[in-house]
Amino acid sequence: MSMNESLEPLRHYVQFLRERQGVREIKLSRAARQGLARLAAAVKAAPTAVMPTSTARQTAVSAAPISRSPVSSTAAKSPVTAAPVAPAKAEPVMEISGANKVEQLKHLSERAAVCMKCPHLAARRHTVVFGVGTPDAQLMFVGEGPGEDEDLKGEPFVGRAGQLLTKMIAAMGLTREQVYIGNVLKCRPDMPPGASGNRKPTREEMETCLPYLRAQIDIIKPKVIVGLGATALEGLLGKVSPISRLRGSFLDYRGIPLMPTFHPSYLLRNQSNTEKRKVWEDLLQVMERLEMPISEKQRGYFLAK
Ligand code: URA
Repeated sequence: MSMNESLEPLRHYVQFLRERQGVREIKLSRAARQGLARLAAAVKAAPTAVMPTSTARQTAVSAAPISRSPVSSTAAKSPVTAAPVAPAKAEPVMEISGANKVEQLKHLSERAAVCMKCPHLAARRHTVVFGVGTPDAQLMFVGEGPGEDEDLKGEPFVGRAGQLLTKMIAAMGLTREQVYIGNVLKCRPDMPPGASGNRKPTREEMETCLPYLRAQIDIIKPKVIVGLGATALEGLLGKVSPISRLRGSFLDYRGIPLMPTFHPSYLLRNQSNTEKRKVWEDLLQVMERLEMPISEKQRGYFLAK
């Protein structure tokens, strides 16, 4: 671990104090100055192999549709144009340790559980919501970030939107235990005291947390990923585009087919069969890609009678 990396949490905290709390000057006590000096010396002395951490690597991510399955009956859409939000740059990734997937996910979750990279989120969180499901999942769902229910329980998608996601998974003939569910952000985006609801993670929060998600995907190696909502897509592909334009066609996340679809919370707000059918058609494509059996009854869900 380089000195820069080890001081990263401190840098984030100072930034947080400056930007969010309006602190202009930070005076360190003598003890704090001595502690920092000791930390710097220890980091300098430590052999890099003892403390593995992020390395930089360049990964090409293409937003080109891979295929369009015949299951879709909704109107054809114009080609997707996802605007890059930033020029391509090296993506920080986490080093993965452990002899098998279970151990690797365990080590990763232990690191996430004590993560302080976003001090303003760490200060408010009840739990770090790492992910749930089987490490051998062929199918992985990726959402935005934990809400209040998830933060309290430590499990993704357990609130109202989560219950709907669980129903969607059941409609595919699967259980939550047979898939893997994770989020772009592992901590609940903080809200002003007394405010209800959730806020979208900032770009900086996403970039800080994404190495965990990338490592989860690298470990699990799902055959298909479903990206739930525009923020999940922004996190995975670094592209900003309305989900209504992205959904319905497979994209590519490092060689893994990625199906964008509406976030379940959108379906809670728009309960028409037309919108439900769109999501269902996306999931039918996923089932086809995974060569899952599909009954006639399943094919007909949410079609007008
Ligand atoms: N919404 C998300 O995107 N993720 C959750 O875990 C819960 C709600």
